[in-house]
Amino acid sequence: MSINIAVLASGRGSNLEAILAAIAEGKVDAKVKLVLVNVPGAGALDIATKYGVATTVIPNAGMTRKEHEEKVIAELKKHELDFIVLAGYMRVLSADLLSHFKDSRGFFKVINIHPSLLPAFPGIRGYEEAFEYGVKIAGVTVHLVDEKVDHGPILAQATFERLPDDTLESFKARGLKIEHEIYPQVLQSIAKGGVSFFQRHTADATADRETARR
Ligand code: GAR
Repeated sequence: MSINIAVLASGRGSNLEAILAAIAEGKVDAKVKLVLVNVPGAGALDIATKYGVATTVIPNAGMTRKEHEEKVIAELKKHELDFIVLAGYMRVLSADLLSHFKDSRGFFKVINIHPSLLPAFPGIRGYEEAFEYGVKIAGVTVHLVDEKVDHGPILAQATFERLPDDTLESFKARGLKIEHEIYPQVLQSIAKGGVSFFQRHTADATADRETARR
């Protein structure tokens, strides 16, 4: 089946572009109903426009988190969405916002891509921290979002090597190229067969649930 998604972004939008290009090429059975951006002038807006996708800018500057999220929720609710896809959206989503987008098993219909092999290096400097730490194997993670930052069930991961002559820039560029492959692949796999991940064997109640299938 085809899935309806909204993409949330804050910056340049290269993951958004990879998703839109994959959809245009028929590699992902999805429709981007809306691109929602919190930073006026973000590159993601031009990319959405290039692909004929509706955009909304909801700046968070000068607003409380609650005020901002109320506007975001209202905008998202105007559409029939199967998933909310975070692509470089540099804001933590509150439990209240997430609660509006719950599936029948209690998971949130919100997907994120993070530039590290989670649970290593959560936060907003994934590549930088992995590089500074001196990892030999780095990676990217696509996961369902839960109430904790960069924490929910892992949908896909891919690795790449830190090479001896890597600069931070070459290291990041190699990771980003992988992001652009893995994110469309995950969306297509969800469109075809639903959400799937390994059950966590931890005491963490939010994660310790059976494998979810839409
Ligand atoms: C990507 O590297 C993405 O993984 C990262 O921001 C970048 C956005 O680039 N996200 C995070 O760090 C989330 N914690 P893009 O705007 O070109 O897609």
